[in-house]
Amino acid sequence: MRRAAFQLKKPGMSQPEVLATVSALRQRIRQWRAAGGTVAIVPTMGALHAGHIALVKLARARCERVVVSIFVNPTQFGPTEDFARYPRSLEADLAAIASVGADAVFHPGEAEMYPPGFATTVTLGGPAAAGLEDKFRPTHFQGVATIVAKLLLQASPDAAVFGEKDFQQLAVIRQMVRDLDIPVDIVGAPTLREADGLALSSRNVYLDERQRKFAAHLNQSMQWAARRVRDGEDRLEAVREAAASICGAGFVIDYLELRDARTLAPALPGQAPGELRLLAAARMGRTRLIDNIAVDG
Ligand code: PAF
Repeated sequence: MRRAAFQLKKPGMSQPEVLATVSALRQRIRQWRAAGGTVAIVPTMGALHAGHIALVKLARARCERVVVSIFVNPTQFGPTEDFARYPRSLEADLAAIASVGADAVFHPGEAEMYPPGFATTVTLGGPAAAGLEDKFRPTHFQGVATIVAKLLLQASPDAAVFGEKDFQQLAVIRQMVRDLDIPVDIVGAPTLREADGLALSSRNVYLDERQRKFAAHLNQSMQWAARRVRDGEDRLEAVREAAASICGAGFVIDYLELRDARTLAPALPGQAPGELRLLAAARMGRTRLIDNIAVDG
């Protein structure tokens, strides 16, 4: 049975309206537009943390109306990945969204987004084939791009906000929107970090106390390598030594690479630090963390 739009109420807190169907979402957005409002969407998979809340605030600053989507998208998880154990916390998410004042939450069920017979996906090139995440998660970006394309077509927003933490994802979405002429402004938001540099991520909850302590070495070693590149030291050596330090903290590295920040192609010798991005993915036990920083940051 299809769920209709409904309003969750909690004493003392104004909960956002929760919409479960595409038709309810479209109807609400039509009403907002008829009243003259611009609309931003913040696509998420829930398990919201302060990084997501910053995305919602940015969306709020750009548009009069904000909808946050919460959908753990099965097609972007590989068969051995953490889809089943991915953290789900709808009640806490709604409270967090209420505290920042989004207008609505789009929370569809799986059958709403992938009805029986669903057979279309977006095929990608360019930054999606950069040899970073795609090398280790070969079907991931096809799943991301397909669900993001659907969300953009369902909501027809003026702006859509994504975190820079998933830097390759942001590049893939920008490329898709450009190539398919989807009329939306893609807004990238800076990564939020813990005091020790660890990037905020829904997957950080998987880390035990000891792993959490060592996890900060990922960003700290990246910062060290970026500083050395900026100071004109040997780039290969800076990255190699940062990799050794990350491994020394207990990580198994998938990649640690200096790339062109715009195309994600491998950095060229002599390319200015301001054009470069250092990107990493590394596994601490069963938890896979990603991070990226501007080299001239
Ligand atoms: O970044 C995410 O949380 C997801 O990849 C997204 C963009 C919501 C698509 O499922």
